[in-house]
Amino acid sequence: MLLEKFLEQGCLKEEEFKELLDQFDQGSLTREALLTLTKKAVALRECYYGKKVYTRGLIEFTNYCKNNCYYCGIQAKNSNVTRYRLSMEEILSCCESGYDLGFRTFVLQGGEDPYYTKERMTEIIKEIRCRYPDCAITLSVGEKDHDTYAAWKEAGADRYLLRHETADEAHYRKLHPEGMTFEHRKACLYDLKSLGYQVGAGFMVGSPYQTNKSLAKDLLFLKELKPDMVGIGPFISHHDTCFKDMPNGTAEKTVFLLSVIRVLLPNVLLPATTALGTVDPQGREKGIKAGANVVMPNLSPVAVRKQYELYDSKICTGEEAAECRGCLERRIASTGYEMVSMRGDVAKR
Ligand code: 5AD
Ligand code: FES
Repeated sequence: MLLEKFLEQGCLKEEEFKELLDQFDQGSLTREALLTLTKKAVALRECYYGKKVYTRGLIEFTNYCKNNCYYCGIQAKNSNVTRYRLSMEEILSCCESGYDLGFRTFVLQGGEDPYYTKERMTEIIKEIRCRYPDCAITLSVGEKDHDTYAAWKEAGADRYLLRHETADEAHYRKLHPEGMTFEHRKACLYDLKSLGYQVGAGFMVGSPYQTNKSLAKDLLFLKELKPDMVGIGPFISHHDTCFKDMPNGTAEKTVFLLSVIRVLLPNVLLPATTALGTVDPQGREKGIKAGANVVMPNLSPVAVRKQYELYDSKICTGEEAAECRGCLERRIASTGYEMVSMRGDVAKR
């Protein structure tokens, strides 16, 4: 009933979303009902993107971080992490090998590392922009001021990933220490939008203290923000954090939410994340079959991959991962979709 209403209208009220998610948790949605949702999500995805799956080359260029988000393995306080920073040359060499492998989007992701000032990042962005005029540059380095975001846009960045983490103030307080607020996070996302970035928001599924009410707020926040990209993945505990004994999010609920988000924002770019592939060996394939249309294999040097451990047991960090692209290409082909070498910008609504 609620699911039908959602499929018809493409949105629900907060209370109704909560109820729908409760129904999912209780197992009271029938197999047929769930199948209708998946079918609708897949149809919408194919209407905007066909059978194409876009790829982003992820370069985790620093694991220094000044913050202490309780869920995150590379938080400042964790003294068991061996910290690293990639030099300009190392970053460029990741881009070079990535370009040869067919990547046309580079995602520079890192902790909130004060070493990468507005000026240092500007230099890196300009250099990549100059060498790869046909590629998209995506940044994912956290909360900065308007002036900094503007300078990086001017230098040639196209997109920015900044998960909102949770749109429920009380829940936000449970995940972050004093000093970090949902208000500021939100302001950053709107700043980025106003500067003309393609913007990515998102959240973890099953993070500690998350309720279906907070997830309902997440969905309505996404509807309001209208981001170009939405990154979601299951929460996975990290052994050095205060959440080490908290249960992980599930692949099932993440996959359900991927379909829901596809229906909510039909043309959105939606990755099947590494975290989803970590909780379920077939997670990324399941994500693609549920409406996701992006994968983000790691381009970081294999030597540093283990150090970028936001959560335990992260896949693609060992020697076998030197060639994630080939691996993913086969995995995606197995789902009936096709991994492509294109910038993969958001489709017009
Ligand atoms: N489990 C799953 N995802 C995590 N992230 C951070 N820590 C974890 C964890 N323990 C996610 C956050 C962040 C993104 C880069 O990774 O949502 O925004
Ligand atoms: Fe990384 Fe398969 S995608 S090893």
